Amino acid sequence: IIMQYNSRQKKVLPGKVVWVTGASSGIGEELSYQLAKIGSPLALSARRENELERVKKKCLEISSLSDKDILIVPLDLTNRSTHESATQSVLKHFGKIDILVNNGGRSQRSLFVDTSIDVYNAIMELNYLGTISLTKHVLDHMIQRKKGKIVTMNSVMGIMGAPLATGYCASKHALQGFFNSLRPEVAEYPEISIINLCPGPVQSQIIQNVFTEEVSKVNANIGDQSHKMPTDRCVRLGLVSMANDIKEAWISDNPYLAVCYLWQYAPTWAWWLLNRIGKTRIKNFKSGVDADVSYYKKSS
Ligand SMILES: NC(=O)c1ccc[n+]([C@@H]2O[C@H](COP(=O)([O-])OP(=O)(O)OC[C@H]3O[C@@H](n4cnc5c(N)ncnc54)[C@H](OP(=O)(O)O)[C@@H]3O)[C@@H](O)[C@H]2O)c1
Ligand SMILES: *[C@@H]1O[C@H](CO)[C@@H](O)[C@H](O)[C@H]1NC(C)=O
Repeated sequence: IIMQYNSRQKKVLPGKVVWVTGASSGIGEELSYQLAKIGSPLALSARRENELERVKKKCLEISSLSDKDILIVPLDLTNRSTHESATQSVLKHFGKIDILVNNGGRSQRSLFVDTSIDVYNAIMELNYLGTISLTKHVLDHMIQRKKGKIVTMNSVMGIMGAPLATGYCASKHALQGFFNSLRPEVAEYPEISIINLCPGPVQSQIIQNVFTEEVSKVNANIGDQSHKMPTDRCVRLGLVSMANDIKEAWISDNPYLAVCYLWQYAPTWAWWLLNRIGKTRIKNFKSGVDADVSYYKKSS
């Protein structure tokens, strides 16, 4: 989908109560700032309450929202027994949830042959089950009102495959299949929309936070991320998609955008290109360099 900037979000989004997960960092943090500026009351969730306090403070500085317009709701997506009470606390405070943004999640950098199955379990618990669990509670409320938007930060990796991210790709494909199947189930409510945002590489803390070969092992190879799409551009395009109820938005620079198109329309060529990109990523990963960066900067 080729998108132009437009101003519909300034008509649709002000005053809408938006619940953002993963609001303590990266894309979710920037999304909170841009929504605050537009004038959307916010519920901010993630595990790190102190980081959410920091984001809330900045939201208040850059917007005309007041303290009661921003609610901090500490939430661990993997602790599903807490999701109902978290939903109730947002509803108690604001009386409604217009938009849920399922953004919290973690990626992966490791080869399948070297990776514990526990990592695959943890990725699915967080990215897939955590997301659909929260969605279930919020959707109940939206069905009562016959109104709402469920926005999910998927990825181009929910569309194509990618080496070094087998578990992450699987979790994002699972979300894609889930929401594409949920959409026709809620089609009887024309004012409930399911929106899947699929960014390519975007500047955030995602590489610092990736899963590796073991659940508790942190990623040591963090390269320069400056070649990636700036966070604010990704969020701006996401807001346009949200405001216009776009079912699936590809928000990426090349070569990943080209691979998306090839994947959809010319899969044989997609495999040729993906194998080329993949070979370089794996080679650099094995030599201890950040996989993405070294693809872009392979001449240096
Ligand atoms: N950056 C990219 O290149 C890119 C591309 C496509 C899609 N995405 C997607 O964008 C979303 C946001 O990622 P990001 O790039 O902004 O990365 P990020 O900077 O690492 O942010 C991830 C967010 O998820 C939260 N989170 C992690 N584990 C959680 C848990 N167990 N419970 C609740 N929240 C949790 C983190 O907060 P706490 O640690 O405080 O809990 C943090 O706020 C993810 O779904 C990711 O898959 C990113
Ligand atoms: C889940 O949340 C509940 C309620 O806050 C808490 O008592 C429990 O320890 C949490 N479980 C995990 C595994 O973090």
